[in-house]
Amino acid sequence: MAVPFVQDWDLVQTLGEGAYGEVRLLVNRKTEEAVAVKVIDTSRAKDCLDNVKKEVCVHKMLSHSNIVKFFGHRSEGPVQYIFLEYCSGGELFDRIEPDVGMPEKEAHRFFQQLIGGVEYLHSIGITHRDIKPENILLDDKDNLKISDFGLATMFRHRGRERLLTRLCGTLPYVAPELMTRPEFHAQPADVWACGIVLTAMLAGELPWDQPSESCQEYFDWLNQKMYLTPWKKIDSMPLGLLTKILIQSPEDRITIPDIKKHRWFSRSFKSGVKRQNDAHGPLTKMLRSDSEKFHLANSYDRVQISSSQPEPQSLWEVREDVVHTEVVQVSFSQPTCPDHMLLGSQLLGTPGASQNPWQRLVKRMTRFFTTLNGEKSCTGLRDACIAMGYTWKQSCTNQATVSTMDRRNNKLIFKVNFLEMEERILVDFRLSKGDGIEFKKIFLNLKQKLSDIISNQKVPFPFT
Ligand code: ADE
Repeated sequence: MAVPFVQDWDLVQTLGEGAYGEVRLLVNRKTEEAVAVKVIDTSRAKDCLDNVKKEVCVHKMLSHSNIVKFFGHRSEGPVQYIFLEYCSGGELFDRIEPDVGMPEKEAHRFFQQLIGGVEYLHSIGITHRDIKPENILLDDKDNLKISDFGLATMFRHRGRERLLTRLCGTLPYVAPELMTRPEFHAQPADVWACGIVLTAMLAGELPWDQPSESCQEYFDWLNQKMYLTPWKKIDSMPLGLLTKILIQSPEDRITIPDIKKHRWFSRSFKSGVKRQNDAHGPLTKMLRSDSEKFHLANSYDRVQISSSQPEPQSLWEVREDVVHTEVVQVSFSQPTCPDHMLLGSQLLGTPGASQNPWQRLVKRMTRFFTTLNGEKSCTGLRDACIAMGYTWKQSCTNQATVSTMDRRNNKLIFKVNFLEMEERILVDFRLSKGDGIEFKKIFLNLKQKLSDIISNQKVPFPFT
């Protein structure tokens, strides 16, 4: 017998993916409420199950407006599901224009919220350890939400601080002491990562590959060569704050209480542009009441802990049945990719079907329409990728995986989906592995190369 949520929630699309597995969007058929589910196959690595347990244990404790909400957890054999608040605004890195950044006012607001979230984490003794724009999401009102607690850990318990020893995180965002000291304090390292995020928001680039003196850009920073990029692009007031955050010695680095007192942090920007409303319509409504969230979370946990209960019918099997039957009618090719839920679910004849396909898309800049049909769009992009020296692998008719090395010689992998939207082809790019800003550069480069087949018609706001 199926558990209630299995019947009511449709698996709509893949939101993101990483080394752990995938994050997918679930939409309630009746209420059109949305949740994200992180799907992790723990059979792939031996310490994976312990890591997921730790992630769940940490995330469960958290409750703050700038942290992605945790709704529940469930396991089915080796596959673990973590149910999370759906952030329809997409990832922060998608708001960063390569080599430019974003308006200072926007960066200021995001930075205030980031510091708010990190301050909360630290107040309860938790350190995130992998703060970067790819792990920062935005909701429908552009509120910042810190996500992915896969590396988070407790650094303070019952008032006693524990020093950290593990070198983890993402090299351009790690603090220098992680590379040079056997033990270090957790909080200054998170503060450092926030400084790198602020630099990326204000300049559209990361300042260095890693904070070691052998890295020329870092060496130049230590020598205060502010006339170099990215610093020359940043206004003196926020740059003043960055010079206090990106201080080599963690003992001398500014603390969160002092960041909050800094002139730039506490300044106000004149309100000019009107804040955007809930432009995504009913899809982005979160679970309405706390009791409903509680019910949802508890029902997952109940399934997980009760061994006497009959094995619940797999959520994925149920919904994929629907995809296979429905997508054939609308897709220009094989219905084997899960992303086709996007098209299939609008035909179900349920309340969810009243949503147009735009409402099902997470906000993302890395997509465009073409003037050609699906097959020709695919061939055009494939040829452009091959000409750039990228590896092209077609996973199914409507999806391809592209891999290359970025400017810093790091692996970069992204997926391209070809979606039929109102009789046109939407080409949607999603990062799988690598640096978000580098991915964006590659996207813009490909977009320029394909300019003769790209439709002038814009993807409607706010989905661009
Ligand atoms: N990508 C990863 N997690 C997500 C979430 N909770 N909402 C939207 N997109 C995501």
